[in-house]
Amino acid sequence: MKADLYDSFAESYAAENDSSLLNAYYERPAMIALAGDVEGHRILDAGCGSGPLSAALIAKGAIVTGFDSSAAMLDLARQRLGDSADLWLADLSKPLPFADHSFDDVVSSLVLHYLEDWLSPLAELRRVLKPGGRLILSVNHPTVSVITQPDEDYFAIRQYSEDYEFDGEPAVLTFWHRPLHAMINAFISAGFRLVTVSEPGPSPDTPQELLPPRILNGEKTAFLSFIFFVLGTD
Ligand SMILES: C[S@@+](CC[C@H](N)C(=O)[O-])C[C@H]1O[C@@H](n2cnc3c(N)ncnc32)[C@H](O)[C@@H]1O
Repeated sequence: MKADLYDSFAESYAAENDSSLLNAYYERPAMIALAGDVEGHRILDAGCGSGPLSAALIAKGAIVTGFDSSAAMLDLARQRLGDSADLWLADLSKPLPFADHSFDDVVSSLVLHYLEDWLSPLAELRRVLKPGGRLILSVNHPTVSVITQPDEDYFAIRQYSEDYEFDGEPAVLTFWHRPLHAMINAFISAGFRLVTVSEPGPSPDTPQELLPPRILNGEKTAFLSFIFFVLGTD
């Protein structure tokens, strides 16, 4: 497999993800809350990165398999999870190395927005889910683009790049923007049923110094960043 984008900033991204408002106190708690009771569930973490969500689900009694297309991210996941998770180098854009109906749940945090085509990956995730299984996922909230890219076409599926700083290191991420209707129609076309859509606030245990001022002063309850979906297979 060729070197993956995340290979070049794996360590700084993982360090940022472990403590940032957006990941540690917003995205991950929201995914854990949506997953609910996972005791004994076989869960696939699609695009597991350095494995923080896998670790949280294992702590709640789940049996976790993870995969990622970045070898460097997967190495960090191995360091974090040891033998407690089954970890694979695999690409969500390609057929996955798992048998049909292997998992009770698939979780996928902040991964699908890297893919131009959603239909084949969603079909693969549906294939590996047991009947009655759930796909729980988060992606960049498409509405953010109306504010941050006012000259671009919200309604188009199009690529865009943004500059980031992870743990003090610069990085450029390239995403695929999709309007909300295109996301939901892709889920439906892949045979999923929409169970829950979530636009959560930050976790109640967020350190005050990380909170945006208008949340801290009670003026707002949440901020626009990611959108979360729970999808059913039947
Ligand atoms: C924003 S990070 C999130 C990592 C992890 N899910 C988390 O929340 O901590 C996105 C991850 O998706 C992975 N990724 C991107 N495209 C992928 C693909 N086509 N197949 C598998 N993993 C992919 C990246 O390597 C990276 O680890």
